[in-house]
Amino acid sequence: MKIIAGNWKMNGNPSELAEMLQGLGALDTENRVILCVPYTMLRAGNNIVMLGSQNVSKYDSGAHTGDISAKMVSKSGATVTLVGHSECRTELHDTNADVAERAARALENDLLPIICVGETAPERDAGLTEKIVETGVRESVPKNAANGGFIIAYEPRWAIGAGITPTYDQIQQVHNLIRKTLDEMGFADTPILYGASVTEQNAAEIMSIKNVDGVLVGGASLKKETFVPIINSVK
Ligand code: PGA
Repeated sequence: MKIIAGNWKMNGNPSELAEMLQGLGALDTENRVILCVPYTMLRAGNNIVMLGSQNVSKYDSGAHTGDISAKMVSKSGATVTLVGHSECRTELHDTNADVAERAARALENDLLPIICVGETAPERDAGLTEKIVETGVRESVPKNAANGGFIIAYEPRWAIGAGITPTYDQIQQVHNLIRKTLDEMGFADTPILYGASVTEQNAAEIMSIKNVDGVLVGGASLKKETFVPIINSVK
């Protein structure tokens, strides 16, 4: 069983989502499928798909115009949220501490947080990948987290949407580091996803790497024709 999570980013519309849910609902799969969609499309998922948001506020409620709380997401029927996605870290200037706050609110409101960590191109070029990833995990997981109660996604930020991926050895090295870090933190049962330029061509091979428990898929999750083969590429 693998976890296949889609991230629609700022794309799609309710009728495209309805069509996707109908298609995925008919799949015969043991894999856990998650789809993180824009807030305006949130609702309950179906027998196959858990729906989620792409972020939640650090705050519970109040004067935060434009923000959406974890409670609001939870009340929509959705059950998951991304936090700390690369694009949020860049555009909202989220630090690891901010991400931990968001994840804490998610957990308080019964949402499963997918906590994203990863290095930028300059960090990679400076040889900082392991340091950034390990610190990202240690600082972005909130204090109220329980073993197995959240998911980590490793997303090399330079590879997102770029059509390139690290070598499988590099993915393996980083996932081993994350697994060791989570073990040390007492979170041995936490699934670790790989994300960045996952396609139907590379999904099965990436998910065959040790300590890769699934994938987080951006562009290829937008259409059934490209998302379903990824879900069906593994048992
Ligand atoms: P991508 O995006 O698959 O289009 O590279 C991944 C992500 O941002 O989650």
